[in-house]
Parts: sequence; structure tokens; C-alpha cells
Amino acid sequence: MLSKRETSMTERTVLISPSLLSCDFAQIARDVAMIEAAGADWLHVDVMDGHFVPNLTIGPPVVKAISKVATVPLDVHLMITEPARYAEAYAKAGAHVLTFHWEVAPSPEEARAVITSFRDAGIEKVGVSVNPDTPIEPIAALFDEVDLVLVMSVFPGFGGQAFMGEVLEKVRWLRAEGYEGWVEMDGGIDGETIVGCAEAGTDVFVAGSAIFGADDIPGTIAQFRSTAAERMHVG
Ligand code: DX5
Ligand code: ZN
Repeated sequence: MLSKRETSMTERTVLISPSLLSCDFAQIARDVAMIEAAGADWLHVDVMDGHFVPNLTIGPPVVKAISKVATVPLDVHLMITEPARYAEAYAKAGAHVLTFHWEVAPSPEEARAVITSFRDAGIEKVGVSVNPDTPIEPIAALFDEVDLVLVMSVFPGFGGQAFMGEVLEKVRWLRAEGYEGWVEMDGGIDGETIVGCAEAGTDVFVAGSAIFGADDIPGTIAQFRSTAAERMHVG
């Protein structure tokens, strides 16, 4: 008989969430249509405020514009210091998955307040993220309250950084502790680093530069999907 972990691993589906941070911002609608046709399951949208991370990207009006042309769920990654303050704005803008960082609400009580603000705003799927140097263990208090845990495999702020393999231990820990929700990995994922991510128990794979920078984008997404699907049963 399969253990609980093996059973759930075989039931998991690979989701590829290309990061629009690497698209051509002057051609967002074109790139959304292109990446959806290429096989994207979700669209990863990186929101940066210049405080939590040393970079600024896009706000609710642009997310709303993306949601008008997108046909797959928007996976919105909030790298901002006050996620609860903007919950309603991002919900109205069309976020389907909305993820905040534990570092800006670093206790179960503070994190629950953010989660409640997201749910009250009508967000369907709530995620919590941890930076590479943030311990994963406190997230256990939120297992029953979040749909997704986003493990950062680079320090957030910029695309195109090198994958930090040491964070795979966090994914293994989440699955060993029985976390059954989505585990998403973000930063430095390519055709090689995706192998370890999948073996560790990741099921949602964000990739910006490796997808948008590929010569054959549909082929790259298909290869990521088949590699991840094959390896997620091995780990
Ligand atoms: C980094 C962002 C990532 C980024 C990933 O702060 O959260 O989503 O776009 O880009 P790559 O895949 O190029 O590392
Ligand atoms: Zn991201």
C-alpha cells in the first residue's frame, strides 16, 4: 500500500506559471496570448513596491489590464510591505491566486490577518511565500489556511538570477510534514534545475527568463512539464 505521501505525489498535476516579468512590457497583450498558446497553465505576475524589494514593477491597473486579455488564472506574487492594504485592489484587478510574503507578517496572528483580508476581498486561492533565508517551519501554523506555499529560490526583486539549490530542503520538509496544498518554486528555474524541484515535491513552477528567453517557447514549456511530471514521482 502506498504511504500518504506517495499517494498524494502521484495525484499531483504539474502547473507551469511563466513570469511576465520577462515579457515585453510594451507588448503585454501579445505576449500573454503567445504564452497561453504555448501552454502556460497560469500567468505569474510579479508585483514589487521598491520597499520590500529593491525594484518597482506594476500595480493594480496593469494587473487589471492583463486580466482583461488573459484566459488562464493570474498568479499574483506580492513582494510588497502592506499586502492587506492592497487586497481589495488586487482582487478587483482579477488576481486568482494572491501570494504575500511571510517576512511582512512574521507571526501566525499577523499572517492570519493578511489571509483574512485576502479572503474577505474575494480571493479564491491564497499563498504565502518565504525568502531563501527565511525558515520554513513557522509556515506549519498556516497549513490549513493557505492554498499555496511559494518557496523562493532566489532573493526576490529581479529575474535571471541563479537558482539556490539549498531551498529544496524546504520543499522536502513541507511534504514530509504532510502539506498537501500547492508548493510553488520561483527563481532560476530552467530545464535542469526543475528536476530537483519536482523530485522534492514542487508542483507549480515559475520561470521567467528560461521561458521567455527560449528559442522554442512551446517546446520549452512542454519539456518543463514532461520533465517535472516524470521526476515528481521519483523524489
Ligand atoms: C523574482 C520574481 C520571479 C522572477 C523569476 O523576484 O519573483 O518571479 O520573475 O525570474 P527567473 O525565472 O528569470 O529567475
Ligand atoms: Zn515571482
